[in-house]
Parts: sequence; structure tokens; C-alpha cells
Amino acid sequence: MSLRRFENQVVFVTGGTSGLGADTCELFIQEGARVFVTDIAERDILQRLGSSSAVFQLCDVSNPEDCEKAINACVERFGRLDVLFHNGARLAGVSTVVDHDVTLFQQVINTNLCGLFYLARVAIPQMQKQGKGAIVSTASTSGLAGDYGLCSYSAAKAGLVNLTRVMALDHAREGIRVNCVCPGYMVTPMTAAFRENEVVHQALLESIPLHRGSDPKEVSRAVLFLASSDASYITGQALIADGGWSAHSGGPNFLKYMGPQRWDKVEMDRLLCYYTVE
Ligand SMILES: NC(=O)c1ccc[n+]([C@@H]2O[C@H](COP(=O)([O-])OP(=O)(O)OC[C@H]3O[C@@H](n4cnc5c(N)ncnc54)[C@H](O)[C@@H]3O)[C@@H](O)[C@H]2O)c1
Repeated sequence: MSLRRFENQVVFVTGGTSGLGADTCELFIQEGARVFVTDIAERDILQRLGSSSAVFQLCDVSNPEDCEKAINACVERFGRLDVLFHNGARLAGVSTVVDHDVTLFQQVINTNLCGLFYLARVAIPQMQKQGKGAIVSTASTSGLAGDYGLCSYSAAKAGLVNLTRVMALDHAREGIRVNCVCPGYMVTPMTAAFRENEVVHQALLESIPLHRGSDPKEVSRAVLFLASSDASYITGQALIADGGWSAHSGGPNFLKYMGPQRWDKVEMDRLLCYYTVE
């Protein structure tokens, strides 16, 4: 029997018509929620989700007025707000700070980071009235350590992780929990360009211990966990779902450079040990 953890709950989602956002809306509805889906494009999302449990409104999260209007419209429509899932975000291509367009840098920070601020400042007073609430954002492993060439994106996602922590501290006593998920590589439209270049794609897969990108639903399940009462004692956390990526120190893979014929104790001692025990 499937879980019904969000029966009678209202969930507000940004970036909800594609990739992780759309898959997560689907799971929330399966578990009994009514979902207020927002995005910068509609993309026939109501055909996919059905209109009995979902409504759609355009909302550009880089625009504070759009955010305020959309949260208010959600509360007007459904009478409450239990979960805010801030997921909408953009990449800016690959470049160093020297080459990065200034306006584009500001847009990435404004969308990926400030969006949470614009939404939360309107959503939290409603959750305070209700005496509880859960906020989950989609951060990234790029927010936990730097990624080559992704300066604006990594900076924005790192800010999102720490904004999550501060909001968790500030609102814990009001029954509001604030967490984020940190996906590694998900197979979604955002990463289509990586798959178009075979060399880049192989390098990407090679760097992931599980040796594959995730289906976004594998991350959606982490989002639902954090939003649900199953995570009732968890707040201020960044839950990593990255196939083992961040478990790696960044050093070379010794196993790869030692063929099976050299896989014996003597060779290991010679290569890796400072001393041998008699
Ligand atoms: N795909 C990955 O490998 C990966 C890895 C780590 C984190 N993420 C994060 O996961 C989340 C979902 O991305 P995805 O992979 O499903 O990609 P996606 O491109 O399918 O989804 C991103 C969504 O954000 C929306 N969006 C973009 N700008 C917006 C704006 N200004 N206002 C509102 N919505 C906006 C897009 O329209 C789209 O629906 C994003 O936060 C992304 O940064 C993705």
C-alpha cells in the first residue's frame, strides 16, 4: 500500500513543470497533497498531474512580486500552506569569473538563492499562523564544494545551503522545519548538454561511484521525506543524494591504476605503506 503522508496538506512548488520539480509534484499528489505548481513555463503540467489536485500559476522566482503574489494565491485558493518546495533554478553555462557575464551572474544568484528568500518571507507568516510547516529547497553538491566553471551556480547553491540553516534556527521554535536536498548528477533537461558530448558524459559517469546519473524520482523521495513528519526531528540539514560523489576526497582512484595482476600485498606495501609490520 502506498504512503499517504500529505493527506489534507497543501504544497507549493517552484520550477514544478520539468525534471525534478514535475516528478516531485507527482509524488506529493500520490501521497494525498494538493499542489500549487509554479514555474516560468506551463509545459502542459496539468495534463500530467490532473486538475483535481493541482493548479498552475506562472511565477518567476527571481521576481519578489511574483513570489508574493503566488504564495498569496496559493493560500487564497487552498486556505493553507503546509510545504514550500523551492526547486526552480538555472545554470549559466561554463566559464570562469573572468568570462562570466555580470547580468547573468546576478540572474543566477537572484533565481537560485534569492528566490527562497522572496518566497519564505511570505510563506513563513502563514506557517506561523498554522503553528507548523516544512520548507525544502533543491540545493546541489555544487553548493557543498566548488565545481569547475560553475561560479555563479555554485555560489548560489552554497548560499542556499546556509540560508536553509539560518532559517531553520530562526523558525524552529515556531514548528517550522527548513532543509534542503543536494542532488549530484540527475538525468533531467538541465543536464541534457552534458549527455550530448560523449567525452564529457563519460568523464561525468566515471566520477560518480554508482557510475550513473540519478532518475529525478530518486531525489524526489528525499524531498518528500524531508517535507514529511518522518523527518520531524530534522531541521537545518542538507541531505545529499549523489551516488557517492561527495564521499570522494578528490584524490586519484588507486584501484584504477593497479591492474588485477598487481593486486597483491607486496605491491600494495611498496606503493602505499610507510612501514611494514613484521
Ligand atoms: N540535473 C542535475 O544534475 C541537478 C543537480 C543538482 C541540483 N539540481 C537542481 O535541481 C533542481 C531542478 O532542476 P532539474 O534538474 O529538474 O532541471 P530542469 O531544467 O528540468 O528544471 C528546472 C526548473 O526550474 C525552472 N526555472 C528556471 N528559472 C526559473 C525562474 N526564474 N523562476 C521559476 N522557475 C524557474 C525551469 O523552468 C524548470 O522547470 C534545480 O534547482 C537544479 O539546480 C539539478
